[in-house]
Amino acid sequence: MTAPKLIVGNWKMNGLQADSRERIEKLAEAVKSAKSGAFDMVLCPPATLIATVGWFLKESSLKWGGQDCHAQPSGAFTGDISAPMLKDLGCAYVILGHSERRQYHKETSEEVLAKAKAAHAAGLVAIICIGETDAERTAGKADAVVSAQLAASIPETATPENTVIAYEPVWAIGTGKVASSDDILKMHALIRGKSKVKSRILYGGSVKSSNAKEILHLANVDGVLVGGASLKADEFMAIAEAS
Ligand code: PGA
Repeated sequence: MTAPKLIVGNWKMNGLQADSRERIEKLAEAVKSAKSGAFDMVLCPPATLIATVGWFLKESSLKWGGQDCHAQPSGAFTGDISAPMLKDLGCAYVILGHSERRQYHKETSEEVLAKAKAAHAAGLVAIICIGETDAERTAGKADAVVSAQLAASIPETATPENTVIAYEPVWAIGTGKVASSDDILKMHALIRGKSKVKSRILYGGSVKSSNAKEILHLANVDGVLVGGASLKADEFMAIAEAS
């Protein structure tokens, strides 16, 4: 039997209490009636909604996580959230090194590695994102960029259980442009070959119900990281069911 696919929803900076409650309840209900063990689902809401998500999902098989954490467990870091704080809210996962963090917060792979170590120390599964920009792909540097990010972002504390790698070509995130099956196959094979640990490898970038089946059945694709489409309960469930 093959391992269930991992379906992760990244809500980014979206959602207020009222509209999110409805979505969480809908998802929890739908997952309850889905075939058990068919897929693993994780919701990564903004920090302000983690407690709400945790409250609604406490009886559910769904898990939840943060979208970032600090490398230190506590201290004078105004506005930041630590890995033990996420754990304290029942999180099982944390997304790290998302391209929006690398771009807007200038996060380096070295910082991502330090955060991943902190996540592991707190008992969280780190979902570590890597991926090339449009300019890098056009310049023929996609393989080199992804290989370098992989080598520099994954700490020696990584195990197949505590680490997930998400390949997210930056040009495919929120653009509606999906990497071709051939591009995904090639990049996932490269990541699989170069990874020191046999982590699950997710694809992310404009995944929706209409393309999920094709992507989820490619070799070395162990799941998907979904942004925009995870904000609609029906659409996100349809993606999970495509696995
Ligand atoms: P998208 O985002 O599905 O909206 O392209 C994916 C991501 O940023 O993780």
